[in-house]
Amino acid sequence: MSDSLLQLEEKLKELRNRRDKIEQGGGSVRIDRQHKRGKMTARERIAAFFDPGTFVEIDAFVTHRATAFGMAEVEAPGEGVVTGYGLVDGRAVCVSAQDFTVIGGSLGEMHAEKICKCMDLAAKVGIPFVSLNDSGGARIQEGVDALKGYGNIFYRNVKYSGVIPQVSVILGPCAGGAVYSPALTDFVFMVEGISNMFITGPQVIKAVTGEEVSVEQLGGALVHNQVSGVAQFMAPDERTCFEMVRSLLSYLPANNQEDPPYLSSGDDPGRCDPALREVVPVDPNKGYNMYDVIYPMVDNGVFFEVSRHFATNIITGFARLGGRVAGVIASQPMAKAGCLDIDASDKASRFVRLCDAFNIPLVTLVDVPGYLPGVDQEYGGIIRHGAKLLYAYSEASVPKVTVITRKAYGGAYIAMCSTHLGADMVFAFPHAEIAVMGPEGAANVVFRKEIGEAEDPAAKRTEKIQEFRNVFANPYVAASRGYIDDVIDPQELRPRVIGALELTSTKMVESSPKKHGNMPL
Ligand code: HXC
Repeated sequence: MSDSLLQLEEKLKELRNRRDKIEQGGGSVRIDRQHKRGKMTARERIAAFFDPGTFVEIDAFVTHRATAFGMAEVEAPGEGVVTGYGLVDGRAVCVSAQDFTVIGGSLGEMHAEKICKCMDLAAKVGIPFVSLNDSGGARIQEGVDALKGYGNIFYRNVKYSGVIPQVSVILGPCAGGAVYSPALTDFVFMVEGISNMFITGPQVIKAVTGEEVSVEQLGGALVHNQVSGVAQFMAPDERTCFEMVRSLLSYLPANNQEDPPYLSSGDDPGRCDPALREVVPVDPNKGYNMYDVIYPMVDNGVFFEVSRHFATNIITGFARLGGRVAGVIASQPMAKAGCLDIDASDKASRFVRLCDAFNIPLVTLVDVPGYLPGVDQEYGGIIRHGAKLLYAYSEASVPKVTVITRKAYGGAYIAMCSTHLGADMVFAFPHAEIAVMGPEGAANVVFRKEIGEAEDPAAKRTEKIQEFRNVFANPYVAASRGYIDDVIDPQELRPRVIGALELTSTKMVESSPKKHGNMPL
């Protein structure tokens, strides 16, 4: 063996030793502690997330340069975060995974630099960025340099918003200002029992307000999926969570210049479903489950729901129709009669904007009796929040197909992607009712005097309700004005929606010259 090769052997040995040390993270004791809490290490998570053997690490040798509070002597393998790229179903994705075994995954200057560089790479090559978060927050010893690190990440979250999909997976603590990176990304996943997010923890809350609350009650997976709406997905364990992230990515393009991946499903686009004739009752006072409309409509009944547990009066999620990805937004008559309220407006608007940013056409199924009445709603700003939906749908330039399955009343009719907000194709079932309000309410207002003066007010009221229903509670008045493009047999829902999506797939969009609008936030 030549001298040169012998010397190289030595160098390679050093490389292996250095890499081995880095890969051991915070060492076996801390790794055991991580496992005992039911948590994987950063590297185990990466291995579970990517297609086997595809992960390529970058910046493994980065070190911190802090000296205060004894940091000069502290070794932090990998700087407490593993970054790189790998394949998900053969498609490239960038990742950062905080390593809780190294100084609690705390974020110092160089830790943040690694994340930012990986985000820049993802944006440069136009691929999704997934961040696996498990951290004690800003590295206290690094003071303002740690804060700078967070600021730099937030800045990139915003800069790349709508350019590449950004996904946050919370797999441990995520506290203080650290929560704002996930909040700025497109999707937040949490795992039951191990994830928590809050601005101020239980101890601070107790000191300031006197309230006693556990970490789980304050910022656990269920709370953020069901109550606050901060997270869109909840998994029972980490492996399931990674499978869910992989499924989500299968519906998204790599960046905003691409279309979402087409996947031939084998499900006949012309398939009619006679059962759909029975799903939506003709009696407007009878409830039904909108999932029973969605599943037969989409390819193979596969619907990937987003924000399943939050604002259940509206359903949002991805599906394929004839192989093409679509974002489905649907009223749910089973919850709050499908009314739009503050949370439903927020949830749907955000989803509409996400789809629009990533070239995903919108399919809206409407059965909405109106905006939810109530002092709470008014005080909470239903005007401001409800306006978001009008804004989001009007602004969206992707193909928009709407089906009115039954009620579409008042402002909520307009808001749920009506023709007037730029829907490209609007269908209605034959028993749809499009009106300013329901017949009961309308009779009370318009015929109040007549009803009051009648010999038998109850009978008069019933008569007037029926009269109103006969005139307005049908799709034909709207259809006669061209506000509805066609009235369809419910069993033809799937072929008609797919036909409309096919037609509008070549939609041309004009954009007006402005910096950005002023959405009612
Ligand atoms: C430096 C930290 C750290 C931090 C944890 N560690 N958080 N080191 N800065 N923020 C270290 C611990 O000293 C410990 O080191 C190791 O990580 C593991 O932490 P433990 O406390 O042993 O773990 P655990 O019992 O599981 O408790 C986890 C924890 C707790 C709840 C996260 O560590 C904690 O409360 N940390 C501080 C949280 C915090 O206040 N962060 C700042 C938030 S404000 P050893 O050597 O013993 O293993 C913030 C501002 C961001 O982040 C602003 C952005 C704009």
